[in-house]
Amino acid sequence: MAEINTMAAIEVIPSGDALGAEVRGVDFARPVPDEVRDRIVQIWAEHLVLLFRGLSLDDDQLLATAGLFGGQQAAKSRDFFIQAGVKPGDNDRVATRPGISIISNVDSQGKAGVAAEADRSLSLKWHSDNSYVEVPPTGSLLHAHVVPVNGGGETSFSNQYLAYENLPDDLKAEIEGKHCVHDDHRNTSAKLRPTKQPPKSRHDITGPKHPLVRVHPVTGKRALYLGRHYEWPSSYIVELCDEDSEALLARLWDAATRDAFNWTHDDWRAGDLLMWDNRCTMHARSPVDHSQARVMHRTLIKGDPVISAWEKAGAVAE
Ligand code: OGA
Ligand code: MN
Repeated sequence: MAEINTMAAIEVIPSGDALGAEVRGVDFARPVPDEVRDRIVQIWAEHLVLLFRGLSLDDDQLLATAGLFGGQQAAKSRDFFIQAGVKPGDNDRVATRPGISIISNVDSQGKAGVAAEADRSLSLKWHSDNSYVEVPPTGSLLHAHVVPVNGGGETSFSNQYLAYENLPDDLKAEIEGKHCVHDDHRNTSAKLRPTKQPPKSRHDITGPKHPLVRVHPVTGKRALYLGRHYEWPSSYIVELCDEDSEALLARLWDAATRDAFNWTHDDWRAGDLLMWDNRCTMHARSPVDHSQARVMHRTLIKGDPVISAWEKAGAVAE
């Protein structure tokens, strides 16, 4: 390409589905002028998930990319491993740089197919990153280093503006003013995190309380914000009893992940960078063929306090 990181070089190719677009003409390894950054923010607000291809970013460049969009935020999952005695740099569950998470299925020697690492090839359930912290990250950047060949690990995204807009009116009315506690006990493969015990009732569920619907600060639109949900006892609606909470969440989860709202990145290549918005999308991953290596480096874009759809304009968000 003749030009890179100029307004003229930017090309947007929508996925054709409910969200997602490839953006060409951008390389985050090179200086990004403010006007180009601002244009990417605009394209991001329009398409929710952006795919940049053919990049080769080291961890510092990945962190610098997060810096363009608001800064980095360390993943909370890191703390659970550190509490369990893992030291930064011991293994790739706790990378040396706090802002980097290595999402991989290989052992510390880079070897694929090791039985002890098999859980890391499991599917990942629908979720929004780090929704189990008080101030969740605005977005995430996932950069592919090694990808399997026809080996699964496809990443799907779901448009949560559409999920909210398309709720039947009675369901919209039912969730008005309600909040959910986002369960921090399990990872997105539904496995207990280190140091966590299986919860026995809602009283054992720890995690922040978020509104079921949030307002996106850039677009001003409402999005359903379900975050994560596992087998009971898990995330629950604080205003409802256990049974009613489970029933309402089941209806909402059904509505939130309909095929019509989704796009799947099903042809990962090394060098791909996906940038998604955790405020208005959820994502999930199909299982990976454990005999093949899959190594991605991720950084979270620093969040701002969640804006509740239930607060009047001008009121302090919770
Ligand atoms: C993540 C995640 C999906 C994938 O890194 O937050 O959900 O495809 N990863 O590995
Ligand atoms: Mn995730």
